[in-house]
Amino acid sequence: MAGGAIGVAVLPRLGALAGATPGAGALRCGAMPVAIFAHAMRSAHASAAHALSRLPVAVLASLACRREILAGLLSQQASICPKYFYDQRGSELFEAITRLPEYYLTRTERALMRRHGRAIAEALGEARVVIEPGAGSCDKARMLCRSLAATHFVGVDISADCLQDGIARLRRALPGLDARAVAGDITAGLRLPPNVPATRRLVFYPGSSIGNFDPPQALALLRQMRALAGNGGALLIGIDLPKDRAMLEAAYDDAAGVTAAFNRNVLSHVNRLIGSDFEPQQWRHLAFFNEAASRIEMHLQAMGAQRVRWPGGGRDFAAGERIHTENSYKYPLPAFVAMLREAGFVACQSWTDARGWYAMLHARA
Ligand code: TRP
Repeated sequence: MAGGAIGVAVLPRLGALAGATPGAGALRCGAMPVAIFAHAMRSAHASAAHALSRLPVAVLASLACRREILAGLLSQQASICPKYFYDQRGSELFEAITRLPEYYLTRTERALMRRHGRAIAEALGEARVVIEPGAGSCDKARMLCRSLAATHFVGVDISADCLQDGIARLRRALPGLDARAVAGDITAGLRLPPNVPATRRLVFYPGSSIGNFDPPQALALLRQMRALAGNGGALLIGIDLPKDRAMLEAAYDDAAGVTAAFNRNVLSHVNRLIGSDFEPQQWRHLAFFNEAASRIEMHLQAMGAQRVRWPGGGRDFAAGERIHTENSYKYPLPAFVAMLREAGFVACQSWTDARGWYAMLHARA
């Protein structure tokens, strides 16, 4: 029986899946030197359409980044889009978060995959084409592709460098696998390379990254994944479940201060991206469970009055004022299954750890 055979092959290996990749790799964006921005801005102002048409694509993308950052900083409730967490240092800090004693998510997902490896493998069945939004270093994909004897892999990530390295490692580890990188923002729609088979597709989205989107965005993303999977395809996705406030808050505010450093690092990255002069040490890391919205909220709180400047503008922050940096939604399992159905998936199967903290779901397109 094919499912059984795959199950045996998968059993010892699936456990390693949940380990290494930044869960929110989907949200990463590389740094862009300010000088290039300045040049791009001047060109754009000089003779908009003509100059813009001659700018390299990378610069155009970064103009959009700059606009997005400024819009967030200038909103009444200031915010910074979480994709700007992931510069080099941010990615390293995120890796460290996944190993923290308080950060149960990565560990629990890995244990869950190990414990239910056979059943998950049976559900995956004949899937041979793996598509991973936010693949980053592709470490989780390596285990999955090996276990499935996948023929094709498409890793999608906004951070092209990290993704290229990951794809190169994947090709070395699995020479028979047709592994491709697609650099892009998954929230902006995806186009796959032309030779990706349309059947036997599995969209793989581990790490509870779906929780970092607001519910309407998450639904839109799931709809896109449903379209990507195609008829007969499926989705394998990890989600963090609501639980005791103290456990949740500790996971996002660890004793060693790694999550605090990760949160503050976004200001250093923004400084490089837009030429601002945030002093990260003047901002306190704040993480709390907003029970009404069923989400962890992360903020940076000004420890005193702050005057922040950037070329062409700035903002004064009062002492105690906050910049909202991220949400991490915790969906009850039935609510998430309902969302999957609304996105067009059917026949959902789920696996939960003994404590009921985390779930892995398989949904057919
Ligand atoms: N999606 C995961 C989560 O929400 C990983 C993650 C994204 C994260 N941003 C984070 C973890 C910030 C800690 C802090 O848990």
